[in-house]
Amino acid sequence: MKAVEVTNLTKNYGKNTAVNDVSFTIEKGDICGILGPNGSGKTTIIKSICNLIIPDKGVIKLFNKDNYKAIENISAVFEGTRNLYWRLTPRENLRYFAGIRGLGGRKIESRIDELLERFNLSEKRNATKNSHSYDISK
Ligand SMILES: Nc1ncnc2c1ncn2[C@@H]1O[C@H](COP(=O)(O)OP(=O)(O)OP(=O)(O)O)[C@@H](O)[C@H]1O
Ligand SMILES: [Mg+2]
Repeated sequence: MKAVEVTNLTKNYGKNTAVNDVSFTIEKGDICGILGPNGSGKTTIIKSICNLIIPDKGVIKLFNKDNYKAIENISAVFEGTRNLYWRLTPRENLRYFAGIRGLGGRKIESRIDELLERFNLSEKRNATKNSHSYDISK
């Protein structure tokens, strides 16, 4: 049984091709590593599999179902530090993830406030890594 099947995946960011026609399969029970130099497209592949970004070309299947219909097969994804999130403030991060889940507009702002409060981040809600008030490495 194929757990992950990526076929002809291509993703462009403007003129930059991040992933160029990549295909691979991972069998159920296998452990797989994706290796490559910085900027070679590893994270873009993972994000495509998780349906966090939409590829320009290609088909991605999880247990034989299109990935966007089979997202329940992904338990957790741990990310490195070289990505978008640390460039966003805590508030912007929550808005970003709400957007991915199809939530937006004014109604989510109070929910964001609640979550910031719950995780003790209200004071840092608009902080960025570069504002020196929020050190993500700690
Ligand atoms: N959101 C984005 N907007 C524009 N370009 C992006 C975006 N995300 C990634 N890229 C570009 O796409 C290419 C692939 O990036 P990606 O992050 O997938 O590589 P990576 O292999 O995960 O790198 P690293 O080892 O640094 O984590 C790089 O040229 C990167 O600059
Ligand atoms: Mg990466």
